[in-house]
Amino acid sequence: MSQQFDVLVIGGGPGGYVAAIRAAQLGFSVACCESNAYADPKGEPRLGGTCLNVGCIPSKALLHTSHLFEEAGHGFAAHGISVGTPKIDVGAMIGRKNTIVAQLTGGIKGLFKKNKVTLLGGHGAFVARGGTAGNEVWQVRAGDETVEAKQVIVATGSRARHLPGIPVDNKIVCDNAGALDIDAVPKKLAIIGAGVIGLEMGSVWRRLGSGVTILEALPDFLSVADIDVAREAARVFARQGLNIQTGVKIGDVKVGKKGVSLAYTDKTGAAQTLDAERLIVSVGRIPNTDGLGADKVGLQLNERGQIAVDGHCRTNLPGVWAVGDVVAGPMLAHKASEEGVMVAERIAGQAGHCNVDTIPWVIYTSPEIAWVGKTEQQLKAGGAAYKAGKIPFAANGRALGMGETAGFVKILACAKTDRILGVHIVGAGASELISEGVVAMEFGAASEDLARICHAHPTLSEVMHEAALACDKRALHF
Ligand code: FAD
Ligand code: NAI
Repeated sequence: MSQQFDVLVIGGGPGGYVAAIRAAQLGFSVACCESNAYADPKGEPRLGGTCLNVGCIPSKALLHTSHLFEEAGHGFAAHGISVGTPKIDVGAMIGRKNTIVAQLTGGIKGLFKKNKVTLLGGHGAFVARGGTAGNEVWQVRAGDETVEAKQVIVATGSRARHLPGIPVDNKIVCDNAGALDIDAVPKKLAIIGAGVIGLEMGSVWRRLGSGVTILEALPDFLSVADIDVAREAARVFARQGLNIQTGVKIGDVKVGKKGVSLAYTDKTGAAQTLDAERLIVSVGRIPNTDGLGADKVGLQLNERGQIAVDGHCRTNLPGVWAVGDVVAGPMLAHKASEEGVMVAERIAGQAGHCNVDTIPWVIYTSPEIAWVGKTEQQLKAGGAAYKAGKIPFAANGRALGMGETAGFVKILACAKTDRILGVHIVGAGASELISEGVVAMEFGAASEDLARICHAHPTLSEVMHEAALACDKRALHF
């Protein structure tokens, strides 16, 4: 007889593993099926998905190492510290990153044991719908065995989109996985796509000494961000030496043993060629629904190939849910986890929810970029009456002490009610500062609420405080 569970989760990334743990906390018998996509040296499936293995965590480890390298080479002197010309041991940097990944992925296995979640190694796919109407039992192939569950949470995530005619070998031409394992600093690095991965990985290798050119198809740089933030970021990145070209059209890409030769037309329509030792293709991601047996059970996909869900991540099938990158919405680890918790709590009859309006975005460049809520261009397009308070980090004592004066905080609030509609930050510590904006928006705060809160001195958070004061034209230090 096949193993039976109350809840079966397919996929062990931040959507799936968090859903499994929360469901187990709520008293269900839970299994999580994870394919061997990121098999560890023992051949066992690794939990943590894209985020822990080839995404958030390894990229942030490399960003930190390269930041220290750049500081040693270019930042220390201003403090009167001389250390000579720093050298980078790329192997040691990658090894450190791998150790962090192994520690965290292993840690989730420990959490599964602690919470009594059964890990099923292998590919998961729907086999059949059983039971009776209103009392369905789903048969799912999990690796070598078939198991049954009343509730199934699909959390199969996403993979890198590749471009036709540009085969990815993850040596010369890399997607996110190869980009995190480059074994020597390329003299020249080409990147297609000036999105989040392009900017973060471009920053890593530029800091380590590569000449980086990023080719972006859209005419505007970083158009998902607030227009002021995108402008300031473009200015700072250009000063750092990142060559970002927008409005390009990629042509033929010739791949040899030592590099690539990439033909493209620039925004004026002129033909150009770019030669580089490595190419990173970072042009977005596609949902993982292949081989999931969706057709066998009639699981509906939407026009973008994502699993179709409602606001509570319910699919068209009773007892089948889907969360994270495989459904619509921002492809972010914390969004996937929020949805995972919501679904587990909904299965338990609770009122779990995920507020899509307050999901923060962070881009971990230097300076960092972070935002929550509406951008100024969205408010304008929607005809909203709003006011803005904008304060530069250059007016903040702590930022000056740190030598991190680039950027600003901009708070957008309703002109009538003063309710905060969006918070946009480009500057040092943006990834941490944005939490204040998220909390404020979750609590329906007005800009005056933030303005009346005592912020510690001297901290970067005082720039948030001043921006809130500036919404009412009463900033004290600017
Ligand atoms: P995934 O993490 O993709 O996990 C899905 C899991 O399901 C995988 O382990 C896969 O092996 C498994 N699987 C797939 N199909 C099956 C199947 N049929 N059977 C069994 N198992 C299956 N987000 C952030 O919030 N912050 C960041 O800083 C950040 N940095 C990133 C950097 C990079 C380079 C990349 C690529 C992504 C980054 N992201 C970041 C995005 C983040 O990684 C994803 O949004 C997040 O991992 C999505 O979680 P998920 O659980 O939906 O899917
Ligand atoms: P992205 O969607 O952020 O950016 C892709 C870029 O490539 C876009 O600007 C797009 O216009 C451009 N593009 C598409 N086709 C192109 C073409 N043919 N030629 C030139 N440019 C082209 O996608 P990316 O960077 O691959 O990252 C995927 C996702 O992973 C992100 O959207 C984000 O959800 C997640 N991520 C999150 C991070 C974070 O939270 N800090 C870090 C890295 C990734």
